[in-house]
Formats: sequence, structure tokens, C-alpha cells
Amino acid sequence: MKEDKKLTNEVGAPVADNENSITAGPRGPVVMQDVWLMEKMAHFNREVIPERRMHAKGWGAYGKLTVTHDISKYTKAKVLQKGKVTDLFIRFSTVAGERGAADCERDIRGVAVKFYTEEGNWDLVGNNTPTFFIRDVHNFSDLNRAVKRDPRTGRRSAQNNWDFWTLLPECFHQITIVMSDRGIPASFRNMHFFGEHTFSFYNEKNERVWCKFHFKTQQGIKNLTNEEAAHINGLDREYHGKDLFEAIEKGDFPRWKMYVQIMSEEQAKNHYENPFDITKIWRHKEFPLIEVGVLELNRNPENYFAEVEQAAFTPAHVVPGIGFSPDRFLQGRLFSYGDAQRYRLGVNHNLIPVNRSKVEVNDYHRDGAMRVDGNYGRTPAYTPNSAGVWLAQPEASEPPLDLEGTMYRYDPKDDPTDDCFKAGGDLWRILTEDKKQLLIHNTAEDIKSVTTNIKYRHAAHCYLADVEYGRRFSEAAGLDFEKVKALSKLDNSELIKATLSAE
Ligand code: HEM
Repeated sequence: MKEDKKLTNEVGAPVADNENSITAGPRGPVVMQDVWLMEKMAHFNREVIPERRMHAKGWGAYGKLTVTHDISKYTKAKVLQKGKVTDLFIRFSTVAGERGAADCERDIRGVAVKFYTEEGNWDLVGNNTPTFFIRDVHNFSDLNRAVKRDPRTGRRSAQNNWDFWTLLPECFHQITIVMSDRGIPASFRNMHFFGEHTFSFYNEKNERVWCKFHFKTQQGIKNLTNEEAAHINGLDREYHGKDLFEAIEKGDFPRWKMYVQIMSEEQAKNHYENPFDITKIWRHKEFPLIEVGVLELNRNPENYFAEVEQAAFTPAHVVPGIGFSPDRFLQGRLFSYGDAQRYRLGVNHNLIPVNRSKVEVNDYHRDGAMRVDGNYGRTPAYTPNSAGVWLAQPEASEPPLDLEGTMYRYDPKDDPTDDCFKAGGDLWRILTEDKKQLLIHNTAEDIKSVTTNIKYRHAAHCYLADVEYGRRFSEAAGLDFEKVKALSKLDNSELIKATLSAE
């Protein structure tokens, strides 16, 4: 906190009066020369910045990653070497709600982590689910339009959600997770989180493997029912933010164990599903979790706007030893975040302290709005230059990746190995009876106001995942189960055609 109790204007000159405008006479109008008043009003009018297009509502904290296990045979990333402790900043968020939305909504939760490593920042921008709704970047803006506000009414629309979700059968597994008890976590501390995509690791010998990131809560999984959440939202819309803040403030530091799953390049070539499809999971039995370390949150930000609102994460920020993969959805994200942040925060957003790397940055980017550091002073503005400064580092190159194939717009649904319902069915089958009941109840509640044709579309998907899942959802939604069975025999485009009309 600033100790100096004296009020000044924006350039440090004393302000004589902060309550009484300068007026022409005791009952007269304000005069322009009350420049402090003008400054105050003008600044206030510019204080709102664009919110994140999605994940607008969020809360942040600082912490550290401690690596407890040796995974050097997979990655040379210094941040992931045994014994290493790295500072980090994390931001948890809901997805659909705007900046003022309530915390305890049924939604997935975003979890973005910025690791301030000695090789530059590594951002892991994940969610609290191991998989995602969709898998092609084209569908991403539409997904968000479907879950955000209806263009006519300005209200959220279950009809739009379910219409979109059920037209893309690859959403099914994620819908099952969101409608399950995990759809409303009791707190951020009580949920797992995941990198979701397939990323890559490469080691000192430049050997590559594919990997997925998992973070398991050490506080135990706890969730809220619809009824509990509705009650809480009525009383405290910032419930999850408060929970995180207070736990850290009193020294009850939340922790997650970090694991990775590893798939060799050879295994990936022969895998029975596309290992780069974000709507698919890698089964733990086949690709066991390998322990890496512990992530702990232990310090609250000093200022919400400076540190949480202005935080900017992007999956494009990786460090040597960690790389991308052919996942087409990940590839789209590599462009989108920086682009969004150049609009939301400005081209120099990586100079903002929460985003700034702890190591020296020598990127040749210059000028631009709000360039508030020395702008690299007299260092040459171009490269190559005869001064020989800021040379590229070829030793940081990733191993080459063999790719082949004909350029085309491939629809993953045409891949004979593509099964959009298996993982959702597997999940249904391992749920305990009380969780099955909750899933059916939550789905029936959520879909209540939606037209019957869309309910049938979803019921057919449930049936394809598991007969009992289909039957129980049909009953709860008041549908004719024989019709559901008949619909489930259609292929995807026939099913869509048969369920297009609300009649
Ligand atoms: C092609 C697909 C996707 C695109 C184009 C996309 C784009 C975006 C954009 C533009 C933002 C706002 C960034 C900002 O203003 O700072 C954002 C936020 C976010 N996205 Fe995505 N996203 C995609 C998929 C995903 C997936 C699959 C995940 C999780 C694995 C994810 C997790 C997040 C999180 C956690 C945030 C909030 C980051 C924060 O706390 O600042 N997104 N996304």
C-alpha cells in the first residue's frame, strides 16, 4: 500500500480539494479551469477495458511448481527437472459468463498457469475437464456464440446451447461431464485440471514423445448440486473467488499433483483413435499417469485489475523441451490468444508485470502504444546487424517432425476409427448410481426449455453411448424410448435431418 497520504494529480502535483468543484459563485456553474475535476472524470470514462471474449470472469493467485520426479528422459525443459522450483501465476475462470457473472454456474472452468521459468514463460492454458466439446477451430467462435447471449433476446439460451452441442456429436463426452456432478465445482480448490491437448516433449537427445498434462487436486473433488449453487449464487456471486482468496490468506495453501501421460511417436502412429483429437482421451490403463511434482498456490494478488484482469496467457508460449502437436485445435489457439490480447491489452501487454518474463527479453519488438520501458535504447533496430547482437539460438530448435498427406478439408467424422460416444459411454458406466441420477437430473433440468426435436437428438446420442443412459434420459425428458431407439439407428446426417424441425 502507498504510504504517502497526500493527494496529487496524475503528475504528482498537490490537489487542493477533492470534493468541491470550482464554481463561478457559490451557486454558479463549474468552470473549465477545475482541471483536476476534468482529469478525474476523463480517467474514469476510460477505466473499462474489453473483457476476455470468453473466460471473462476469473480469479488469480501466485504459487510455485516443485518437481519431485525425474522425467528428464522425456523432456529437457529446465522447469520440469527434478528438484526445480518455479514461480507461477494461475487464473481460474468460468467460460460463458461475462465479467460480472456468478461463479457457481454450470460450466467448465478454465485454469491458465503461467510458469516464470529460467528459459522464458511457459503458459499452460487448460480447463477442469480432460477433453473438449469440439475439435476444429472453425467451430470455436460458434460454440461461444451458442453458449453466450442470443442475438435477439440478449439472454442466454438453452435452446441455442443444446442445438449446437447436439449437431456436433463430438461434443457428447464433454456434455456428459458438464451435466454430471462435476459441472459445478464446490471451489476451484476442489477440482482437477488438464492441459487437454496433446503436446510434445523432447529431451536432450532431441527425441520426441507426445504428452498430456494432468493436475489432481489434493483437497479432494467436491461439487455443488443445482440447488446448492442456486442458493449460493443468490447470496454471493463471487463465492469461488472468496474461497480461493480466504484459503490462501489464512495459509491453507491449495495443492495439485502434476502428472503427465506419455505416448511415443510409434504408438501414436498405431493408436486406434486420433491421438491429436482433443475430444478423445488417452485411457489411463494404456497410458498411465506419471508423477511430476506439486503445484501450490500461496499468495494472493495485491491488485485485481493489475494482476488478474491484465494477465494474458497463450498456449503459444512454450519453452525448449515442450512443444506443440498436430492437434488442429491447438494450432488454432496458437494464433488466437496473442491476437486477442493485442486488442484487449495492447501490443505491449507482455511488459505488464504479471505477464513479464523473469528472464531478459530481447525480441526486437519496438515502439507501440504504452511502451513504458526503455524500448531497447540504442540497440540496433534490425537484424542481422554487424554488431552481432541478439542472435538466434539454433540449439533451441525442436526435432523435425515427419508429416505427410494431401491438403484437404478432412472431416474427422469420415475417419472410420472416430467414435464420438465411446468415451461418454465409458464415463456413464463407471459412475456410481447417485452420480448417474444427478447426471440424468441435471441434464433433464438443463434441457427442459428446449424443443423436443433436440431432446430426441441428445437422447439418441445417449443411447449410442449406453442403452441405459439413453433409456433413463428419455424417461426423465418424457420422450418415447422406441422413437429414440429408431433414431439411434440413423447415421449422423440422417439423425440431424430427422430432428431438424421443432414439430
Ligand atoms: C480453437 C480453440 C480456442 C480458441 C480460438 C480460444 C481462444 C481464446 C481466447 C481468444 C481467449 C481470451 C484470451 C484473452 O483475452 O486473454 C481464451 C481464453 C481462455 N481459453 Fe481458450 N480458446 C480455444 C480453446 C480452448 C481450450 C481447448 C482450452 C482449454 C484446454 C481453453 C482455455 C482457455 C482459458 C483457460 C482461457 C482464459 C485464460 C485466462 O485466464 O486469461 N481454450 N481462449
